Amino acid sequence: MEAWLHLNTQTEELVGQHCRTEMRVAVIGAGVIGLSSAQCIINRFQPTVKPLTVIVYADTFTPDTTSDGAAGFWQPYSHDEGKPEEVKWNKETFDYLLSYMNSSDANEMGLFLQSGYNIFKEPVPDPSWKDAVLGFRHLTTKELKLFPGFSYGWFNTTLMLEGKSYLPWMMAKLKECGVKFVEKKISSFQELGPDFDVIVNCTGIRAQELQPDPELKSARGQIIKVYAPWMKHFIVSHDLKTGIYSMPYILPGSKLVTMGGIFQLGNWSKENNPKDHNNVWEGGCKLVPSLKNARIVEDWTGLRPVRNRIRLERQTFKSRPQTFEVIHNYGHGGYGLTIHWGCAMEVSNIVDKIVQERKPSWKIPSRL
Ligand code: FAD
Ligand code: BEZ
Repeated sequence: MEAWLHLNTQTEELVGQHCRTEMRVAVIGAGVIGLSSAQCIINRFQPTVKPLTVIVYADTFTPDTTSDGAAGFWQPYSHDEGKPEEVKWNKETFDYLLSYMNSSDANEMGLFLQSGYNIFKEPVPDPSWKDAVLGFRHLTTKELKLFPGFSYGWFNTTLMLEGKSYLPWMMAKLKECGVKFVEKKISSFQELGPDFDVIVNCTGIRAQELQPDPELKSARGQIIKVYAPWMKHFIVSHDLKTGIYSMPYILPGSKLVTMGGIFQLGNWSKENNPKDHNNVWEGGCKLVPSLKNARIVEDWTGLRPVRNRIRLERQTFKSRPQTFEVIHNYGHGGYGLTIHWGCAMEVSNIVDKIVQERKPSWKIPSRL
């Protein structure tokens, strides 16, 4: 831990907790969820709550987080079982990202538009996100002929947000705002509790290291990145019998094309598996035979942090001598990049409630 942090703790011990004149926030996790939570808190409170200190703790940073490995395709699950808050957070994220589309930041962020197909073996209801994306429509008979074995589908334009660019872009912005990054494994909330008023828990698939959560499960994924610059549109195939993302998909990125289609609930192995590699390769080549000519660049395995619903809630720890608040923000399954900004804004709403309740003195008085 940095020396100034120790100094600060000692000072507080001398003066007592109620005399703290600054608001201190720790974020655990430097994936897309942790960095965006930090960014939203800074955007919302740096102008009004002074001094505000935000420190991000993580034992893995870009380019080694799950968020870096994901293709970065903006698409919620095809059927999200009516979770209205998640539908809202997904849309807020799309609209936020779309507002950057024509900015000079877009390239550095790894952000670009992409059109393509979701294909099915039978008719399905329209998804909750059909009005969030651009130009959603059903496939024509002529389009369906492109996909033998599939009889129904959608076409739309969406966004790609590549973690390997987006995470460094966010870190640079956070550093400009004075946010500090500390490489450290955190073993308990109590370890940080005495030094912080608010801890935001963005530990993804590893949240159980800090608190038991029987609802959190791993859904293992394995993808292949290939060099196939002729692929310019996405194809996500579905089979309602096998479930989400267990059918071949092809997602062109800025440099490489991601081939996937593995979703193994309950599997915690981070090793690449040759059988899964073959299934992904053969499934992708069956969808688009020209991919047989693609050069394989890498295999990657990641664990999706799956929950029935995202855990986004506040928990108060009344431990002596310092009461502190934990805001949990984890369990984003296979749609963390898709939903991150809406969740981060909700985190900042919760922080606002804490500010109002506990420390009105943090607020700079209005100059009206
Ligand atoms: P992570 O990116 O895993 O970050 C967790 C952070 O917490 C890390 O920094 C880690 O070091 C830190 N941490 C954890 N525990 C501790 C601790 N005790 N102490 C210190 N630090 C700790 N989503 C999409 O929206 N679009 C896609 O196209 C997409 N494709 C995917 C493809 C695959 C194969 C997989 C596996 C996932 C995909 N996802 C996709 C899902 C997406 O990757 C996740 O939802 C997202 O990365 C979760 O982000 P996170 O920040 O919660 O977790
Ligand atoms: C996945 O988790 O594998 C995934 C996520 C979004 C789009 C396609 C696949």
